[in-house]
Amino acid sequence: MSDTKPLPPRATPLQPRRRAIIVGASIGIGAAMARRLALEGYTLALLARQEEMLRGLCAEINTQFNETRAIAYAHDVTDYDSVPALLQRILSDLGGLDLFIYNAGISLPVGLKKFDFEKDHRTIETNLLGALAWLNPVAAMFQSLRSGQIVGLSSVAGERGRVGNPAYNASKAALSCYLEALRNRLSRYGVNVLTVKPGFVDTAMIKDTKGTFWVIPADQAAKDICRAIRKRRQELYTPARWRWVMFIVRNIPSVIFRRLIF
Ligand SMILES: NC(=O)c1ccc[n+]([C@@H]2O[C@H](COP(=O)([O-])OP(=O)(O)OC[C@H]3O[C@@H](n4cnc5c(N)ncnc54)[C@H](OP(=O)(O)O)[C@@H]3O)[C@@H](O)[C@H]2O)c1
Repeated sequence: MSDTKPLPPRATPLQPRRRAIIVGASIGIGAAMARRLALEGYTLALLARQEEMLRGLCAEINTQFNETRAIAYAHDVTDYDSVPALLQRILSDLGGLDLFIYNAGISLPVGLKKFDFEKDHRTIETNLLGALAWLNPVAAMFQSLRSGQIVGLSSVAGERGRVGNPAYNASKAALSCYLEALRNRLSRYGVNVLTVKPGFVDTAMIKDTKGTFWVIPADQAAKDICRAIRKRRQELYTPARWRWVMFIVRNIPSVIFRRLIF
């Protein structure tokens, strides 16, 4: 749980401080976003299972700024029942919330001729149900505050069902759709919802993936995401060329698409 004392300095009218939660912040894109948001002055609650990684990241950020800007919370997103109490605890530690990022995700490919419910179950639990467990109370809070920003890490992989990793495709398609629905509900309350669709990003997630291309560093993805947050954008492809590639991919007729092995 919360391991860094003292708590961050409170926002005051003369010194406003934005506060963010990143779920899935121990490594990869989440850790890169934490470093960038700390540079932008955010106070951060960083959540993931790998507590030592989180502690190291918080120590790095807090040493860099010589004050508490990041607090670690060990959390498994599949422990849905713990979310409401943990959210309340973080709100009390940070003194409020301006930005919520759901970044946690796993990819468990199955062989082209294999079917594996256990892997599919874990994928949906982490990538989709964990997101819903957090997004519901956060959306309710931002709606009543009439302010706030929500960011969800989806993927270009959510735009078509492909042969290599059906449950990952399905989890990201459902997450993108859910985020769009949240945007449509919350925009009238002044709450922005950003859906992020990265291509290949150089993290542990793709280290064993064959046939990757246009791979970008995690920090480049984080830079694009932070810019999109500042501009209150609704959808981001990173790198940007994926928007046009996916426009074409979405329109490939099924009779052709089903013959492609990727
Ligand atoms: N890398 C890519 O090419 C790529 C492309 C498109 C989209 N994405 C998406 O971008 C997001 C970040 O991916 P990444 O590439 O940075 O992957 P990563 O390096 O493997 O990081 C995944 C993060 O999710 C956290 N996480 C996983 N399962 C969790 C659980 N049960 N409870 C709490 N946290 C959990 C991990 O923390 P712990 O292990 O410490 O729990 C870690 O911080 C994911 O949603 C992914 O689907 C990635």
